[in-house]
Amino acid sequence: MPSIHSEILVQKNYSASANEFLQRRPALFIDNEWITSTNGTLIPVVDPSSGKEIACIVESTSHEVDLAVSAARRAFDDGRWSNLPAEQRERALHRLADAVEAKSEELAELEAIDSGKPKNMVASVDIPAAIRTLRYMAGWPSKLAGELQLHPEASPSEFHAFTRREPVGVVAQIIPWNFPLLMLVNKIAPALAAGCTLVLKPAELTSLTALRFADLVQDAGFPAGVINIITGSGTGAGEMLSRHPDVDKIAFTGSTAVGKLINHAATESLKRVTLELGGKGPVILLPDADLQTAIPAAAQAIFFNSGQVCVAGSRLFAHSSVFDQVIEGLAGATQFWTPRAALDPEAIMGPLVSQGQKDKVLACISEGQKAGATVAVGGDCPEGEGFYVNPTVLVDVKPEMSVVRDEIFGPVLVAQRFDDFDDVVAAANDSHFGLAASVWTKDIGTMHRAIAGIKSGTVWGNCHGVMGPGLPMGGYKQSGFGREMGREGVEAYTELKTAMIKLQ
Ligand code: NAI
Ligand code: MG
Repeated sequence: MPSIHSEILVQKNYSASANEFLQRRPALFIDNEWITSTNGTLIPVVDPSSGKEIACIVESTSHEVDLAVSAARRAFDDGRWSNLPAEQRERALHRLADAVEAKSEELAELEAIDSGKPKNMVASVDIPAAIRTLRYMAGWPSKLAGELQLHPEASPSEFHAFTRREPVGVVAQIIPWNFPLLMLVNKIAPALAAGCTLVLKPAELTSLTALRFADLVQDAGFPAGVINIITGSGTGAGEMLSRHPDVDKIAFTGSTAVGKLINHAATESLKRVTLELGGKGPVILLPDADLQTAIPAAAQAIFFNSGQVCVAGSRLFAHSSVFDQVIEGLAGATQFWTPRAALDPEAIMGPLVSQGQKDKVLACISEGQKAGATVAVGGDCPEGEGFYVNPTVLVDVKPEMSVVRDEIFGPVLVAQRFDDFDDVVAAANDSHFGLAASVWTKDIGTMHRAIAGIKSGTVWGNCHGVMGPGLPMGGYKQSGFGREMGREGVEAYTELKTAMIKLQ
């Protein structure tokens, strides 16, 4: 008899539509057609809830990378997308949003099977966010134009000067495995709104929803070559894309280490680069914080998506006067975050994405313990074939420990106490990262001082992880450069041309 505990870790049966999709011949989406691999090398697809191999994807060769880039190049150069009336591009993006909406259920299941994210979380968080991004970005083509400029020394009747926002060209987009479909949409929607054509490579651990999405591209009537989706490893297709001379811009989300490699590779042809990299987000609970709200929110900030979130709140700083109460509250909250198989309708937290990620997270925890950290709750993994790790809180940590300095990317929180406001701001900034932070206080002055003092692309006040397509997002320091989303996120896919006409 399996115990109750292990039953919740047994993956449910897949639906008929998921099984049908998994039986498809592995292929790449290039020039609006499905291309099967030329050399036959495949990468296995694993369900993290069961640890079982369930399908394969193509490891693209340099030939296939070239095919995809040249399809995007042709589609860009002849203006079949960028030269369409803005209204037509807006409609195409709305049709894509409609298509994702219509297939929400199926996409949520595939994502759960491939990534270990609970299906209900995908359906209630990732997919609505993806649809919101597509609709928000659909509004941009008709608004990106340029400005009339004045030559400061000449009369306006003598010179007509203006700027034009033009699409940057062919874009390569490389994305990670923590929000596979949402990240895909967050990458392609602004690029398309700006008039670019693209080649996107999903993470090799989570390519299924990207491939299913390619069907929707065909249905939505995009011209051939505008959106190309190829699968493969980072050191294979990823590296080839980041070196490809015909790629004008590279947009990457993933680890800081790979971000640096991509930035180097892009230098050869001076590609434009935007990087969304790692984080080690501070969550600062000041003594007057509303703990009723702050404690469950701090738990969510680290345990949501099993902590595999670049903006996770992974370093907690609680004022000494509330520290013990906060740790007790967090320990209680871990019940809510008990791991379950991703297709379990009650799952809030699933397994980690891979055996490798599970091993990495467990190694980080034991390294922390060796360095003197104490496990307040968790620290281990439940029995089962899948890649589960229990929600973990470490105390007695020191600023120099690797568990405090490095991104763990798992459900592991390190908690420290503080007494003084300036000290905690300095401690929050004592990091190579600067992606996201949250501050909890009822005092508006303290809130503003904290926001000004923290070196981070985003600072949340009395909430954590709230994002939207209109809000620019990106990193200070080694968390990346450039901003995604909002006006800045669309402009990041443009070149600005200045034109000056001497009137005759
Ligand atoms: P990764 O950075 O290697 O993978 C992200 C993407 O980059 C994947 O599509 C991969 O195929 C591609 N890639 C890998 N090497 C490449 C190369 N040399 N050139 C071009 N593309 C390349 O992340 P990985 O190894 O899967 O995860 C390791 C750690 O990275 C995690 O534990 C976490 O700390 C961090 N990470 C951070 C993410 C974030 O959103 N901040 C997302 C994923 C991972
Ligand atoms: Mg997978």
